[in-house]
Amino acid sequence: MLLGIDIGTSGVKAVLIDTEGRVIASASESYPLLTPKPLWAEQNPEDWWHATCKAIRQILQDSGVAPGAIRGIGLSGQMHGSVFLDADGRVIRPALLWCDQRTADECAWITERVGEQTVLQTTLNPVLTGFQAGKIIWLRRHEPENYARVRHVLLPKDYIRFMLTGEFATEVSDASGTALFEVPKRDWAYAMLDTLELPREWFPRVYESPEITGRVNAAAAQATGLAEGTPVVGGAGDQAGGAVGCGVVEEGIASVAVGTSGVVFAHLNQPRVDAHYRTHTFCHAVPGAWHVMGVMLMAGGALQWYRDTFMPQESFDTALAEAEAVSPSSEGLLFLPYLSGERTPHADPKARGAFVGATLAHGRGHFTRAVLEGVAYGLRDSLEILREMGLSLHQLRLTGGGAKSPLWRQILADVFGQPVHTLQAEEGPAFGVALLAGVGTGVWNSVPEACAQTVRLADSTEPNPAHQPLYEAGYAQYRQLYPALKPFF
Ligand code: XUL
Repeated sequence: MLLGIDIGTSGVKAVLIDTEGRVIASASESYPLLTPKPLWAEQNPEDWWHATCKAIRQILQDSGVAPGAIRGIGLSGQMHGSVFLDADGRVIRPALLWCDQRTADECAWITERVGEQTVLQTTLNPVLTGFQAGKIIWLRRHEPENYARVRHVLLPKDYIRFMLTGEFATEVSDASGTALFEVPKRDWAYAMLDTLELPREWFPRVYESPEITGRVNAAAAQATGLAEGTPVVGGAGDQAGGAVGCGVVEEGIASVAVGTSGVVFAHLNQPRVDAHYRTHTFCHAVPGAWHVMGVMLMAGGALQWYRDTFMPQESFDTALAEAEAVSPSSEGLLFLPYLSGERTPHADPKARGAFVGATLAHGRGHFTRAVLEGVAYGLRDSLEILREMGLSLHQLRLTGGGAKSPLWRQILADVFGQPVHTLQAEEGPAFGVALLAGVGTGVWNSVPEACAQTVRLADSTEPNPAHQPLYEAGYAQYRQLYPALKPFF
C-alpha cells in the first residue's frame, strides 16, 4: 500500500493505492481560504495539518488497512506558497499562497537587484507575483517584526513533511516555483539568495522527487494513526504530481488540468524555454527531466465564481445543462477569464475578467457556456505556445474537476482541434505522489515504469468538425480582447 497526500487550495486529499495502482480508499477535508484584503490569499498551515491528520485517520478507518502495511508516503500540494517558521518550528503568520497578488513591487525589485538576464538564465522564469521569492521580500518590507523571527521558509507540502517527520526538506519540482532555484542545476540559486540577502540556511535540503526525505516520527504517528518510521518521499508540486498521476513522463504527451487553475503541462528531456517566457520551465518529478507548463489562474475557479455569483441556488449540473442547450461559440458572447489576474500568456496581475458582446438574445445558458469556452480559449493560448516551442504533442490527457463534464470535454477538444483523453483513476496529484512513494521504496524501478504499470486511459473525445470553424473564429476574437481591454485594467 502507498499513501499520497495533496495539500490543495480548497482542501486536502489523501489517497491510498495498492501496488497495482488501484485506489483502495480516499478522503478529503476542506479548510478556509483567507482573503483579508483585495489581491491577498492566505491560509493557516495549522489548518492544513489538522485536515491532513483527519483525512489520514479517515482513510485508515475506511480501508481497514493496517498502518504498518503502508510502504511509503508521497506529498503534493499547491505550489509557490510561503510558510514562515521560527526557531522552534512554529508558524509565524498565515502562509501567502500561489494566487496571492500583492507582491508586484517586490518582484520588480528582485528582478532589478539580481538583473533580469541572470534571473532568466538561473531560474528559467521571470519572477512572478505568485512565486515564493516575492512573498519573503514582502514580509521583510511590510512585517519586519515577523521577518526577524523567520528561521525556515517552506513550501506548503513541505510544512506537512516537517510535521510528519521533523525534517526540513523539499524536492526539485516544487522548489522550481520559488524563483530562488537554479532549475537547470536542480539546486538552490545560492548566488541569488546572497544577492537578495536571504540566509541560505532558511531554505530546506533539496531531493529528487522519489527520494526518501524522512520518516514518520512518534508525534506524527500519534496524531495521524500512521506507523512510526513510515518513509516519506520528496513528492512533487501539484502540477508535476498530477502529471505523474496521468503518465506525462515522456515527450509527446501533455496533460490539461482543469482544476481551480488551468494548466497545460508537457514533459521535457532537456530544459527548454518559451522565447518570451510566457510558460514556466521547471524540474519534473522524473529525475533528470524537466517540464514546461502554461498556467491560467482561474479555470474551474471561473466557473465556480460564475455559479456562486449568478446562480447560487442552482447546481453545476443545471448550469452545464443550460450551457449545453446553447450553440457552440455562444452566439458571439465572449468571456475573458482573468478574474484574479493572469500568468500565461500575459503575466499580468492587473488583468481582469470580462463578458463581451452581450445582446438581448443572450440568456443565462449563453453566459455559462461563454465561461466554459473562455477557459478553453485561455488553455489553447498555452497549447499554442508549446506548439510554437516545437513540441509535438500527439496526445492530450485531461484531468481535474473540469474533465468530469462531457460538455466541457467536447468544448476543449473542439477548441484545441485535437482529441482529449480521460484517465481511469482520476485522483490527481495525490495518486501521482503515491506512485513516487512506490518508486522511492522499491515497488517500481523508475517513474515511467510506475506509470506504465498503473495509469490507464478511460475514454477519448474527438473534435467535432462542424464546431471547429465557429471556435476558430471565436478564438481569433478572444485573442484580440486582452490587448483591446488592457487600458481598462
Ligand atoms: C502552478 C500553480 C497552481 C498551484 C495551485 O504553478 O500555481 O497550480 O500549484 O494549484
